[in-house]
Amino acid sequence: MTKAENHILVIFGASGDLTMRKLIPAVFELSEQKLLPEKFAVLGVGRTALSDNSFRAKMKESVTAFSSHAKENKANLDNFIGKLHYTGINTSDIADYKLLKDKIEELAISLNIPCNIIYYLATPPSLYEIIPHHLYESGLNMPGCEKGWKRLIIEKPFGTDLETAKTLNRNLLKYFDESQIYRIDHYLGKETVQNVLVTRFSNGIFEPLWNRNYIHRVEITSAENIGVENRGGYYDHSGALRDMLQNHLLQLTALIAMEPPTVVSSTAIRNETMKVFQAFKPLSPDDVINNVIRGQYIASVIRGENVNGYREEKGVDPDSRTETFVAMKFFIDNWRWGGVPFYIRTGKRLPTRVTEVVIHFRQTPHHLFQSMKFLSSTQNQLVIRIQPDEGILLKFGMKVPGAGFEVQNVNMDFHYDSLKDIHLPSAYERLLLDCMQGDQTLYSRGDAVEAAWEFVQPVLDTWKNNPKAPLYGYPAGTWGPDKVVDALLGEAGILWRYPCKNLSNDGEFCEL
Ligand SMILES: NC(=O)c1ccc[n+]([C@@H]2O[C@H](COP(=O)([O-])OP(=O)(O)OC[C@H]3O[C@@H](n4cnc5c(N)ncnc54)[C@H](OP(=O)(O)O)[C@@H]3O)[C@@H](O)[C@H]2O)c1
Repeated sequence: MTKAENHILVIFGASGDLTMRKLIPAVFELSEQKLLPEKFAVLGVGRTALSDNSFRAKMKESVTAFSSHAKENKANLDNFIGKLHYTGINTSDIADYKLLKDKIEELAISLNIPCNIIYYLATPPSLYEIIPHHLYESGLNMPGCEKGWKRLIIEKPFGTDLETAKTLNRNLLKYFDESQIYRIDHYLGKETVQNVLVTRFSNGIFEPLWNRNYIHRVEITSAENIGVENRGGYYDHSGALRDMLQNHLLQLTALIAMEPPTVVSSTAIRNETMKVFQAFKPLSPDDVINNVIRGQYIASVIRGENVNGYREEKGVDPDSRTETFVAMKFFIDNWRWGGVPFYIRTGKRLPTRVTEVVIHFRQTPHHLFQSMKFLSSTQNQLVIRIQPDEGILLKFGMKVPGAGFEVQNVNMDFHYDSLKDIHLPSAYERLLLDCMQGDQTLYSRGDAVEAAWEFVQPVLDTWKNNPKAPLYGYPAGTWGPDKVVDALLGEAGILWRYPCKNLSNDGEFCEL
């Protein structure tokens, strides 16, 4: 990794949870890795009245809590904290942006740097149009010190449906250029997600098999074992489809399914992922009923403890029909993937926390070793584990020692944590550094965001307008409404990969 140019990182919403738990600790880690430029400052912005010193004290506490390096080297921490500043403004009031401009110019002069600025919107989405508009009106997208770049990072959600996503994009583009807009999807910042590209395109053995001739189906699971915690109010207006599937899981699908880019560049890679979105076979209302399953967790007992159902959670409407689980089957209509089903499932209060992609290869054309065990279970799988225990696992058949030719499945297993001496950057570290370096590869482009919304819009419409679209209950601690979800696979003897058993009632522990 190379160092970024001198700049100021302006964080809106600096008194909030994201800044404290993720952003400032990530910037500190970059500092520890000596990846920050020589002249650098963070300027926190928000309505909360804080002095530089009180902001620094707050951030020092959070870096100490969320970064292991902070305790190791107190001098480094103090040096880093000295680079933090704060200015209190009403972010919705354009008049206050004069104060912000003055502060930025003061910092730029004292550091003797051009006005290279990253604006990070760590605020509620209701401000995603207001703040860029005010920055533009105040000339802060191109401040008084005109030299230097200006970049804008925004957090998901990028809209709540196709129409709002288009409106957001249209409005952002009035104030900033697409080349200045960095839409963050922290999934793309994960090492294992990026490793999908390296695994596919740096090895001679996988890519020749990576198509409809050798792959039977692709399965993507993102399971959380927690419920909605204290985010019930937010989640009830979002649901699993908007919160996870439309963004993280479709982006991941695009990396799995894309064609090799001609070069490693942001434009080349994002063009290829965009082509995947364009090839998604559109879902008809019947497809939504037959191939998209929504579920909601109901009260249950997990390891002897009573667990609330979703409708009993704080902030959730007691009659809510918001999905906490979604599973879907869909196709990518192109030469590589024609006829290969893609299955995605995601949900809350499932038995474990795991995100993985499973490539299921076709069986051998002839079953030479006619043992029942072999026939029912051996299908080569490549499991790309995104979290936890990041790594890659290849499952294949081996002979059971002894008489005859009995076959059993074995694993060839690589775990990232075996690379002990290597610092694995967090998603925010990686993505912040990329933005500092002007690399948009791992950020979502506006057209791809809209294409992903376009794909899921029929699901939102059918669920909203068709009272017959079912919503299945599933006991907290189980793999969703499993009978209907298994039926989605549609072939006898073919199952989802269940990385651990159900926890509801039987109290069994998870085995990944
Ligand atoms: N927290 C996470 O782990 C996480 C993960 C992924 C994405 N995100 C996204 O990142 C963004 C920030 O998340 P967060 O959890 O930090 O949010 P937050 O704590 O609710 O809000 C961040 C800050 O925004 C300001 N703010 C809140 N409501 C406002 C309003 N109505 N008008 C003007 N300012 C307001 C507040 O600062 P002042 O009152 O000082 O102005 C607040 O401290 C959200 O869009 C969220 O969806 C968060």
